Amino acid sequence: MKRVLQTIVILGALAGIAGASVVGFGLYNVSARQGHWPGVKWVLHTTYKQSVRLRSPAASEIPDDLADPDRVALGALHFKGACSFCHAVPGQLQSATAQSLNPGPPHVVEAVSRWEPQHMFWIVREGVKMSGMPYWPARDRDDEVWSVVAYLEAVRDMTAEDQVALTGGEPGAASCSACHGEEGRSTNSYVPRLDILKPDYIGEALEHYRNGTRRSGIMQQVALGLDDETIDRVASKFGKDVAANRVNAARQDNETQGYILANQGTKDVPACSSCHGPNRTADAPIAPSLEGQSQGFLVTQLKLWRDGKRNDGKRAEQMLKAAQDLSDKEIKILAEWYAGQ
Ligand code: HEC
Ligand code: HEC
Ligand code: HEC
Repeated sequence: MKRVLQTIVILGALAGIAGASVVGFGLYNVSARQGHWPGVKWVLHTTYKQSVRLRSPAASEIPDDLADPDRVALGALHFKGACSFCHAVPGQLQSATAQSLNPGPPHVVEAVSRWEPQHMFWIVREGVKMSGMPYWPARDRDDEVWSVVAYLEAVRDMTAEDQVALTGGEPGAASCSACHGEEGRSTNSYVPRLDILKPDYIGEALEHYRNGTRRSGIMQQVALGLDDETIDRVASKFGKDVAANRVNAARQDNETQGYILANQGTKDVPACSSCHGPNRTADAPIAPSLEGQSQGFLVTQLKLWRDGKRNDGKRAEQMLKAAQDLSDKEIKILAEWYAGQ
């Protein structure tokens, strides 16, 4: 019995020394070119697949507007700037550098063939450890991750021409106008109009995206590439310094639920117009214009405010308080009403 124990202790010590030598003397070859020993690749890949399946949300959590063309377009424009470097797009080859990653990123067409939407959602939000696959840079922005998944789902039936129609043929990230529209007049429901905002507000928003206090994986990707001068330039290019939303005379719709909520409020929710105009009181904080703003964007932002997930800027507290008791239904009514102005 004593001999057996002695042997076990000696073998254990030898294994420990062998392991420490591999680590300490650099005996393990980390060369990406060399790849893994036979079998290791299979183990890692199976672990990856099973881990994703175990942790992905249920299929019932897939949003029902995943096929919305505006969502697909937004996802496509972000993918072009943030993901195509590794995964390419339909009709395009992967770069030599991307092909030399190990494990290699699959071409997007191949990537989408392996997974259901809820799996892709999890992979894009969480990333994959020890591979080049990054996680979504912004917390609490599942809505954005789903927009990227909307694009990935659409890729299944896309030709090279469809891709060019969505994002243009030129390489590189999308421009401000590709997403926000010519002169900032966005026609995409999920992308805000900039032409109704003041330059100061635009500049401040870009700074908040850049320093991460306003969380958006899509806009943070853009804003981290902007220096102060460029921020000033684009803010005055897209913004309008007009006193917004002054006209409210003789409205036709002052009986609608939207009008009443926005201008009179309820016992829980203050009237939006007392800060956002046109009935702004003198001491109210300067709040951005909402008239004509994109509907999908308004819904998202109101939910973020209500749930305490948007909290940037000195004036954010006002809006957090105003939104805290909004119901999903009121959000829908308000977004529809403001978007229609
Ligand atoms: C630096 C390179 C890189 C970038 C940038 C990148 N990925 Fe990946 N991605 C990978 C790698 C590598 C894998 C494979 C992981 C594995 O097999 O272990 C992967 C896997 C995936 C998969 C699963 C594919 C499969 O077959 O299992 C999806 C979906 C995906 N990426 C989407 C995206 C999206 C969307 C973006 C942009 C937000 C993105 N990736 C950005 C490298 C990248
Ligand atoms: C890939 C598409 C895309 C690109 C490119 C893009 N944006 Fe955005 N932008 C968005 C989306 C989506 C939002 C909403 C983000 C959020 O939920 O906070 C947004 C939000 C903004 C906001 C905040 C607006 C508000 O009402 O609060 C500003 C300002 C802005 N973008 C300016 C710019 C400028 C300037 C550029 C170019 C330097 C640019 N964006 C490039 C998609 C884009
Ligand atoms: C007490 C003043 C106040 C009231 C009342 C108020 N807001 Fe706001 N709201 C603000 C301020 C201030 C901001 C800008 C916050 C910032 O810059 O971070 C804002 C921002 C917003 C935004 C983000 C706009 C954008 O372009 O990013 C939306 C959407 C919004 N409010 C909708 C509403 C709605 C709908 C109501 C009515 C239910 C409402 N607000 C009531 C002060 C208010």
